[in-house]
Amino acid sequence: MSKGKTILVTGGAGFIGSNYCRYVLENHPDYRVVVLDALTYAGNLSTLVDIQQKYAGRFQFYPGKIQDETVVCGIIRAEKVNYVVNFAAESHNDRSILDPGSFIQTDVYGVFTLLDAVKRFDVERLVHISTDEVYGTIDSGSFTEQSPIEPNTPYSSSKAGGELQARAHRITYGTPTLVTRCGNNFGPFQYPEKLIPFFVSRLIDDKKVPIYGSGQQVRDWVFVMDHCSGIDFVLHNGALGEAYNIGSDGELTNMEITHRLLKLLDKPESLIKHIGDPRGGAHDKRYSIDASRLKGLGWKPAYEFEEALERTVKWYVDNQGWWRDIVASPDYQAFVARFYGKYLGEDL
Ligand code: NAD
Ligand code: DAU
Repeated sequence: MSKGKTILVTGGAGFIGSNYCRYVLENHPDYRVVVLDALTYAGNLSTLVDIQQKYAGRFQFYPGKIQDETVVCGIIRAEKVNYVVNFAAESHNDRSILDPGSFIQTDVYGVFTLLDAVKRFDVERLVHISTDEVYGTIDSGSFTEQSPIEPNTPYSSSKAGGELQARAHRITYGTPTLVTRCGNNFGPFQYPEKLIPFFVSRLIDDKKVPIYGSGQQVRDWVFVMDHCSGIDFVLHNGALGEAYNIGSDGELTNMEITHRLLKLLDKPESLIKHIGDPRGGAHDKRYSIDASRLKGLGWKPAYEFEEALERTVKWYVDNQGWWRDIVASPDYQAFVARFYGKYLGEDL
């Protein structure tokens, strides 16, 4: 086990990044964690309060963008950063359909800035968090790391652009990069625009939940702490220059997930509303991850799906202050009205 390292977690005020901070601080008692986050609509200091209280001496937060070379280099130098783990991204497909420009700024140009800084200051390793969506959609079988990169949305194509920058940096300059590709995460602190927290927060208030199209699209669900342990495993055990799929065989259709949420919250089926498909032809039908490369190195997921989903739903029931502040914010209200207004009408 590596001793006394400092990890720069970019995007650490978001869903997966903050859970990764918790994972590291708990599992590596001699590590320090430094977060750089632009606090976009998706990043909230309320997501880091427990960490700041519990790990005050080993945790530092810096506001700023990953595209800002001065800020990134300043932190790496001042904090003597050993590892960078990059979660910072615009991460929502629906928003990328409305406003793709910011996705290219952060998910492509921002990654380039980090890569240059890692090279310049001899950071030991950079793990870039990519996504299974870079593979596009698959009708049968599962994505392996050799599957073609065929993204279909502005979000997934930006993510592909970012990880290809990492690949090229490694090949051209020898920069110590690793890439991970995971499926749909769920768990505490997920911004309530994504399927599970969006539906749970609406169902708690007896609001209708909008299913895009048939609802037969398949996503490969992973509990966030399994994603975090996979990322940490890649950081410490992965081969430089490689990409690793992270998955736990969690394939379900959107309808199947929705029925489970209704059951866990004891809500009626009448709250389901089928709408047209706002993603149109860009709505990927099926994701499926083959994680055997990582499992072959010794990593395995620790959480059982049904138990993790129940725990997640309970978290949203018990932590309503966290998501109600977000749901009441002008940005959230404006997004929901703009994206869902014409589909949900009076059910908005
Ligand atoms: P999120 O939207 O919850 O959080 C993103 C964080 O990045 C926010 O705190 C935001 O403020 C910050 N950020 C955005 N732009 C920034 C910038 N320019 N500079 C610095 N910080 C910036 O996202 P998430 O769901 O936690 O996803 C984290 C990463 O994991 C993303 O790279 C995403 O592509 C990837 N990923 C997500 C999932 C998933 O299911 N959520 C699955 C696989 C991969
Ligand atoms: O696969 C990994 C990806 O998973 C990550 O890279 C992304 O950051 C993350 O947002 C997620 O992307 P999806 O687009 O799959 O997630 P989302 O929760 O937005 O949607 C999941 C499925 O549910 C998708 O088929 C669309 C559908 N959906 C979603 C919403 C928000 C609905 O039917 N209704 C909804 O209101």
